[in-house]
Amino acid sequence: MKEKYNNILILTGAGISAESGLATFRSENGLWNNHRVEDVATIEAYHKNPDYVHDFYNNMKPELWNARPNNAHLAITKLQQEYPAEVHIITQNIDTLHEKAKSKNVHHIHGQINQAVCLHCGKVIETWGDVSSETVCESCGVMGMMKPNIVFFGEDLLCMNKVEELLRKADLFLSVGTSGVVFPAASFVQTAKYYGADTVEFNLEATSNNFYFDRHIMGKAGETLPKFVEDLLNQVHYKSSL
Ligand code: OAD
Repeated sequence: MKEKYNNILILTGAGISAESGLATFRSENGLWNNHRVEDVATIEAYHKNPDYVHDFYNNMKPELWNARPNNAHLAITKLQQEYPAEVHIITQNIDTLHEKAKSKNVHHIHGQINQAVCLHCGKVIETWGDVSSETVCESCGVMGMMKPNIVFFGEDLLCMNKVEELLRKADLFLSVGTSGVVFPAASFVQTAKYYGADTVEFNLEATSNNFYFDRHIMGKAGETLPKFVEDLLNQVHYKSSL
């Protein structure tokens, strides 16, 4: 570990929001244990039965609207506000808890629950209201082409150009609360390592791609991440007081 970092990149997954009461995907009570990915999270499913897919995401909205950020989200905001480096967040989460925690530089590679995209003209709209096959695009006026702006299996990730730039220049890469089984996000640690970043994983348990991490910090992110951030801040304050 270095004494001072200039470009910190933080990849977050569902585990960072678990302490806010949101279910992860692959836990016992997780979304993918209660629903088939093929029915609600593939582009084929959307084309076959758009209203079934819309209902699935519309039903999630009240819970995600009400969720509050926890100490892990807040620790990242503190790092952004107090540590003298550029700090970016790549999140796989469709919740908006980083924004609610007042973090900046948030890149949603899997989309956001509060957005829909028009498959006809590409317009992205923000809405916490219901979207259906009867929704009319406010930009092109076409009905029935608004899709939840959530990346389904079989679709390209969002903002990948930015992600690649960030992975190349990161000197510290943190992965928080992700199982590391969904690609390409699961390979980001490998890329960051290849370009020279120190890499640290925060999780309750060992994950399958733990080979590329220099450190594993086990435990709840709401406890381990604030402590890690405090240590980083102390280190840089100590250095500047010498
Ligand atoms: P997963 O459900 O696969 O993994 C959540 C991870 O968080 C697990 O490794 C847990 O051990 C860990 N975890 C749980 N609670 C934690 C806590 N309090 N502190 C630290 N770690 C904790 O969720 P993701 O890895 O985010 O994609 O899943 C990746 C993608 O798979 C999602 O974005 C979603 C899904 O299919 C799309 O929907 C496109």
